[in-house]
Amino acid sequence: MNNILEEIFENKEFVNFEGQVIKIHSETNKSQCEFLQQIISQNKFSKSIEIGFAFGTSTLAIVEEIEKNKGKHVVIDKFQHSDWGGNGLNLIKAAGYESKIEFFEQFCFEALPKLMFEGRRFDFAYIDSTKQFDWILVNFFYLDKLLEINGVIVFDDVTFPGIRKVLRYISQFPNYKVYSQHPKNHKPSKARSLAGLLKLLPLADKLIKDEILISDSSLQINSGCVAIKKISEDTRNWDWHVSF
Ligand SMILES: C[S@@+](CC[C@H](N)C(=O)[O-])C[C@H]1O[C@@H](n2cnc3c(N)ncnc32)[C@H](O)[C@@H]1O
Repeated sequence: MNNILEEIFENKEFVNFEGQVIKIHSETNKSQCEFLQQIISQNKFSKSIEIGFAFGTSTLAIVEEIEKNKGKHVVIDKFQHSDWGGNGLNLIKAAGYESKIEFFEQFCFEALPKLMFEGRRFDFAYIDSTKQFDWILVNFFYLDKLLEINGVIVFDDVTFPGIRKVLRYISQFPNYKVYSQHPKNHKPSKARSLAGLLKLLPLADKLIKDEILISDSSLQINSGCVAIKKISEDTRNWDWHVSF
């Protein structure tokens, strides 16, 4: 892993071009950055995109690996200057990867359709931004259109209810499969497994919450960070639906 990144994980700070010491927070942790790098390296991905820049920790991890495959990385963050003092960009410049990233200081709902209309394609995506259901679903909607077959989308913060709910839905799409999790999918507790038996009751699907009938574990999304892989184009019928 990049020396600058190693130091950031050790000291939780870095010195920017203005000589200010920037104390980092909200970052993707070291083992999760390694998880992202592993996926990129194993699949030789070269066209990546990320939503949520902050101080640039995950961006640096991704771009370091993408660069090895002679690729480029797109980053979207509406608040890079307003909330993060431009320090994500600062870090990437200090690490020497400035020419390897393309940055959009926009909302994801503005930047993603623009990339789609330009005919851009990606093989790796990382979402680490807001935790709201509607925003994450819209992100996925566009990223799916932008993603190559065999491409992977990684979701951070899957313990947040809004994000978990999106994963409960899209992990059941016939053209996606759960690729991996970090940490690994937690097994359900005994009580949780027993609750699953309630689905045998008459009218269970009408009377009992979907979360009780279908466990996060059985969907393989019972983790903080989940990667899903697009295995084919979307062939769902117009009336396709699953309980989630
Ligand atoms: C948890 S931080 C990202 C941390 C970063 N991935 C890292 O590892 O250092 C979340 C980021 O999402 C950005 N963000 C929040 N809502 C957003 C939106 N709707 N569109 C784009 N970026 C957004 C915030 O400005 C913030 O930089």
